[in-house]
Parts: sequence; structure tokens; C-alpha cells
Amino acid sequence: MVDLPVTKLSWTAFDNLNLMEKAACMCDGGREYHVLYAQQFGRERLDHLGRLATAIRRLAKTKEGMHELQKMLPHKRAMLYFAQPSSRTFLSFAAACQILGMPVAEVRDTSVSSEFKGESKEDTVRTFSSYFDFIVMRTQIDGLAERMAWVLSNSERPVPIINAGSGKDQHPTQALLDVYTLQRSFEERDGIDGKVIMFVGDLARGRTVRSLAWLLTNYDGVRQIFVAPPELQIGEDIQALLRERGVEFRLTEDFDASLREADAVYMTRIQDEWDSVAGESRRINTDRFHFQPRHLDILKTNAVIMHPFPRRQEIDIAVDTDPRAVYWRQMRNGMWIRAALIADLFRCDAMIQSDSVRRCG
Ligand code: NCD
Repeated sequence: MVDLPVTKLSWTAFDNLNLMEKAACMCDGGREYHVLYAQQFGRERLDHLGRLATAIRRLAKTKEGMHELQKMLPHKRAMLYFAQPSSRTFLSFAAACQILGMPVAEVRDTSVSSEFKGESKEDTVRTFSSYFDFIVMRTQIDGLAERMAWVLSNSERPVPIINAGSGKDQHPTQALLDVYTLQRSFEERDGIDGKVIMFVGDLARGRTVRSLAWLLTNYDGVRQIFVAPPELQIGEDIQALLRERGVEFRLTEDFDASLREADAVYMTRIQDEWDSVAGESRRINTDRFHFQPRHLDILKTNAVIMHPFPRRQEIDIAVDTDPRAVYWRQMRNGMWIRAALIADLFRCDAMIQSDSVRRCG
């Protein structure tokens, strides 16, 4: 049974901690147990998970390698609890479990679960923990995943929770796949250190950007540029975290000028599902923040264009054929890094990286 720091705390005591303290409470000796916040991951862990994802990716190329991977976790079961729409995150978690031989069940619509009969979230999640060995959870409520992690940690079956997107707040596994994509893209250019990363779009409500901006603080000399109309600019809380970590960053509306400097451009869509008044976002003109084919001439020849997807008009589909557009590869990386995260959670990492298994790849 894991003995996490969070187990010893009342909800109020836990809830009063700052983010870094909360992050530490959810880790088991430096390794994340519940995966809730980007703030749980340091440089060493990012390097380890990236290496593990690559080992899994290589093994999965052959029948023998895949067979070895599927022997890792057939004795564990995963619950995918997605109370908010999802394509990539849901499917890549399902695929990651399949790669490791782990059976999966899902609830994707609370109207077909007992929540519809008035069951509390707490009871729902405890029910899942009665049958499954870990829970991947997407919800529109900020902070709900951490509350559930606290509930489970103080129950008789404290199975791990992975936050697959919580409200407008955090999306740590998306940030992991984004970092893995950056690691791979800059493999031959001394890695992520010293690079300029530009974020574009709805940075106020985009949870992927909020998590990734923090993960990037683990790298030396990374500069961050946040490009958005004032109404959609990155939150004060993230800016404060970046300042605290001594990160160089700026907020601007100048898309073209920023593009000339960028090593990676991270595009995002307008998150209008969060509008407080219907149609509110539509009144903000975001056309000048769209990546058009003409921008390919401005962009550095060795830069990369990323997007967590789904996309709307913010990247013209004509851009897809440019070799710098890596968003489809980025999407696939989500499957590898999530498989790595799950393998690591259940301590199969050393086995996957052992010589005897590696030889099967
Ligand atoms: C993102 C999300 O759900 O936050 N999508 C994803 O997980 N790939 C981004 C978005 O919905 O715009």
C-alpha cells in the first residue's frame, strides 16, 4: 500500500497548501503516484519518460517486441472516465493500455452512469476504484481530479488517478506529449534548452498551454512568447510561476515578429465552450493569429509547428504538407508517452529497458 503524504492530511489542510506543496503530496518518493499537475515533473523525470517512450515505440515496431510489451500489465485494469468530449486523449490512453496488454473499461457519458441518479462524484470514483487499478479522468471542473485523488488516497483502495484534463486548469499528460515531441524535434540541436517557444491563441483558457508553459521551466534558457489578443492572454498565475522560476517571457499581439524568433510555434483553438455569455469569443477577431501558408516563409527553416488539436481555422490545412508541421506526429507521441507513464506507474520501466526485452525490438 502506498504511503503518500496526502494520506495524512485532512481535505482542508491539503486544500490550503500551495501548488508546489500539493504536487509533492501526490508523489511517492519523487515519482508521481497520482498524476495531477505539471508541477509534479522535474527534468530527470521528463528525460526518463522520454527515453521510456522511445524504448516502447521501438519495441512496438516488431511482433516480438509488441508481444513483450503486452506481457507487462495483463494483470491490471484501467478505467477511462471521460465526462467531457475527447478524441485524442481518450483514444491514445486506450491504445497505450492495449500496448501494455492492459484491459480497459470506459464511462464517457455521465447520463448513463449512476451519477444520473444523483450519485456523488466521490462515490462514483470510489466505485471505479473497486474494480480497476487506475483511473484516467477528464472533467470540466477545475480541481476535481485532485479532490478525487485525495478521496481515494484516504480510502481502502487508493488507486492512482491520472488527470486527462481538468477544466480550464491543467492537462499534464498533454504537456508530457508536447515535451516529448520537442525532445524528438530538437534531438540533433542540443535538445530543448535555449529554444524559443511561442504560444498562440486562447492562452487564458487553454489548459494545455498552462501545463506546458510550466514544464518548459525545467529547461535552461528557454524563452516563452505568448501571442494572443489581450482578452485571451495567459493568466497572471502562470506569469507569476514563470517569474518565480526566473523564466524569460513576453506577452505580445505581434504574430509575425514572434514567428521570426520561434523554434517552436504552439497553436491553439479558441476555447469558446467556456464563454460566460454565448458568442462572447466570436466578437474577438483572431484572424491575425492564424497560421497561413505565407507564414511558412517567415518561419525558421528548422522550427516546428505544433497544435494539441482539435483545430479549427487557426492552421490552414495547406500547411500540413510542410515538413515543419509536426502536429500529426505530436498526436501519435501521445500514445507513446502515455504508455511510458503507465508502465512507469506500475514499475515496468526497468523491465522494458532491460537488455533481454530491448533485443526483441
Ligand atoms: C485539448 C484539451 O482538451 O484541452 N485537446 C487535447 O486534449 N488534445 C485542447 C482543446 O480542446 O483545444
